[in-house]
Amino acid sequence: MKLIFLGPPGAGKGTQAKILEERYGIVQISTGDMLRAELKAGTEIGLKAKAVMESGALVSDDIIIAMLGGRIEQPDCAKGFILDGFPRTVPQAQALDVMLAEKKMVLDAVIELKVDDAALVERIAGRFTCAKCGSGYHDTFHRTTVDGVCDKCGSTEFIRRADDNRDTVAARLEAYHAQTAPILPHYAAHGRLHSVDGMADMAEVTRQLIAVLDSLNPA
Ligand code: AP5
Repeated sequence: MKLIFLGPPGAGKGTQAKILEERYGIVQISTGDMLRAELKAGTEIGLKAKAVMESGALVSDDIIIAMLGGRIEQPDCAKGFILDGFPRTVPQAQALDVMLAEKKMVLDAVIELKVDDAALVERIAGRFTCAKCGSGYHDTFHRTTVDGVCDKCGSTEFIRRADDNRDTVAARLEAYHAQTAPILPHYAAHGRLHSVDGMADMAEVTRQLIAVLDSLNPA
C-alpha cells in the first residue's frame, strides 16, 4: 500500500503512521525525520536545512526531492510506505508523480488529517520523543505510563524538537496553508483524496484511518 498523509504540523501524521506501520507491514517515511537525521550526522544537507527548519519555513524542493527519490526504492518499502510530510509543495507533488510513474508504482490513497489550527499549538508544545527508540509522547494527551520512562524501551532520555515553539509553529502553519494545502485539489481531482477527523482522540483517528485503508484493500 502506498499512501500519503497530509495535514498541518501537529495534525497527528507521525503518530498515526507509526501505529499503522505494524498493522499493514508498511514503513513510515518522514522527510522531517530524514532531515533531522542529516542534521544530527552533520551532513551538508543537514547544515543547509538547519536554519530553515528552525525558522518554520520549508527546505528547498531540490534537496527534498533528491532525498526522497532513493528512499522509496529501498528493500523495506517493498510492501509499501506512508509518506509523512511529503509532498509539501506543488513542485514536490509533480516530482512525486514522475518518480512513481518511472518506478511503475501507483499511489493507493492520500489521506488528509483535518485539524483546527487553534488545537495545534498545544499539541506541538507538549510533544516529546524517546531519545533511544523514537516513540512519541505528549505532556497531556499521551503520557508515559511511568513518569520519565519510555513505555516501549525503558529509556529515561527524551528530546523536544527545536522547532516546537510558539513562534515557529505559527510560521509552520503559515507555510502549510500557503504552500501545502494547494496540493489537495491535485489529489482530489484524481479521486484519491480521503479525509479523516484529526480532532478526534488518537484511538478514534486510528479507527477512521483503518476504515479508509480496509475499504481500499478488503481482507
Ligand atoms: P516535519 O517533521 O514533517 O513536521 P510537521 O509537518 O510540522 O509535522 P509534525 O511532525 O510537527 O506533526 P505531526 O502531524 O506528525 O504530529 P504528531 O503525530 O507528532 O517537518 C519539520 C520541518 O522540516 C518543516 O517545518 C520543514 O522545514 C522541513 N521539511 C520536512 N519535510 C519537508 C518537505 N517535504 N519540504 C520542505 N521542507 C520540509 O502529533 C503532535 C503531538 O500531538 C504529539 O505529541 C501527539 O502525541 C499529539 N497528538 C497526535 N494526535 C493527537 C490526537 N488525535 N489528539 C491529541 N493529541 C494528539
